[in-house]
Amino acid sequence: MNFTINQYEFGQRPPVTLPSPQLLELLGETGMRQMVSDHYDLLSKSEIKHLFPRIEEALEKAKQRSSDFFIQICGGHPYFNENRGKPMLAKRHAPFAITPEAREVWLKCYQQVLSKMDLPEVVLQSFWDYLNVFSFWMVNTTE
Ligand code: HEM
Repeated sequence: MNFTINQYEFGQRPPVTLPSPQLLELLGETGMRQMVSDHYDLLSKSEIKHLFPRIEEALEKAKQRSSDFFIQICGGHPYFNENRGKPMLAKRHAPFAITPEAREVWLKCYQQVLSKMDLPEVVLQSFWDYLNVFSFWMVNTTE
């Protein structure tokens, strides 16, 4: 597995390839939601925990929004569009100060989750490649 974190210049929005739909096919919706939940639980204990909801109920909602999105982009039911509207994710992240370092912490939490998942390498790699590139779109400040 190659969970490298690419470095970009601030302001870059590199072209993104969607993850393989096999992720959803193999995990099912429940597995996708569990993966996202595990990621949020790590974020809640990380150096960037201040960015995420502390109250359990709000955290559950955040998990739902994020897993709705990943299910949708893996070719599943368009939960995110139904519940939140068009993704426009860079815009939705704008209220939060996301530095290149915060992105690295966020990605490292996903590294931990993915490295414990028993899935074909090619499927995990495709999801990682997506996160690695698209996460840079959310970076909106250098300080
Ligand atoms: C591939 C990269 C990423 C994807 C696909 C993604 C996806 C999402 C989605 C779907 C939401 C919910 C938006 C809404 O419905 O309003 C969200 C919220 C949020 N994301 Fe991201 N995100 C990514 C990267 C990041 C990074 C790198 C950070 C910070 C280091 C971050 C921090 C947040 C925060 C603070 C929220 C609001 C609280 C919450 O709902 O969790 N995201 N993200």
